[in-house]
Amino acid sequence: MPMQNDILKVLVTKEELEEICERLGKQISQDYKGKKVILVSVLRGAVVFFADLMRHIDCDCEIDFMAVSSYHGGTKSSGVVTFKKDLDIDIKGQHVLIVEDILDSGLTLHYLIDVLKMREPASMKVCTLLDKPANRRAKISADYVGTVIPDEFVVGYGLDYAERYRNLPYVGVLKKAVYEK
Ligand code: PRP
Repeated sequence: MPMQNDILKVLVTKEELEEICERLGKQISQDYKGKKVILVSVLRGAVVFFADLMRHIDCDCEIDFMAVSSYHGGTKSSGVVTFKKDLDIDIKGQHVLIVEDILDSGLTLHYLIDVLKMREPASMKVCTLLDKPANRRAKISADYVGTVIPDEFVVGYGLDYAERYRNLPYVGVLKKAVYEK
C-alpha cells in the first residue's frame, strides 16, 4: 500500500516548505552577516530540512551532525534522551545554530543545549521547522520557527513513525489507525 494512503491530511505542502526555507535562510544570513556559523543538524529527522535550509544561507558556515533519540519507536517522547553521536567540530568560541525538524516536548533540545553550552560556544541559537507548543514539557523556545503546528502526530519531510515516511515530500498527519493497530 502506498505511503500516501496512511496520511490523513497534508499539513505543510512542498511549496510552503520551500517558502519556509527561503524565509528562514534569509533571516539567518542577515543575523550572522560577517560571522561564521556552525550549523548543527540533529539526526535523523532534521536532515531533509537541514539540506534545504542551508542552501538558502549565504554566510560562511560549517556543518556537523549529532544524533540523539527520545521517541524509541513510539508517538510520544519517552522523556529519556539517548545520546548516540557527538559533534566532530570543537564549538568552543564558535557561533552555533542547532537545526531541528520539530520542537515538541522540548526535552531533546533542552538536553542538547545543556550539553553543548558546557563547551562554551560564542553563541547558541535554535532553528526548528515545526513548533508544537501544546506539548511542551521543558521551558524552551526556538529563535527561528518555520511554522507552528497543532497537537497532531506528523510525519514526512524527514519526520518518521517507526522509521517510515521520512521520504514524503510534505509534512502530513498520520492516520491514527496506523499507530493504534
Ligand atoms: C524527534 C525530533 C527531535 C525530537 C523532538 O527525534 O527529530 O529531535 O524528536 O521532540 P521533543 O521536543 O519532544 O524532544 P526522534 O527522537 O524521533 O529521532 P529522529 O530524529 O531520528 O526521528
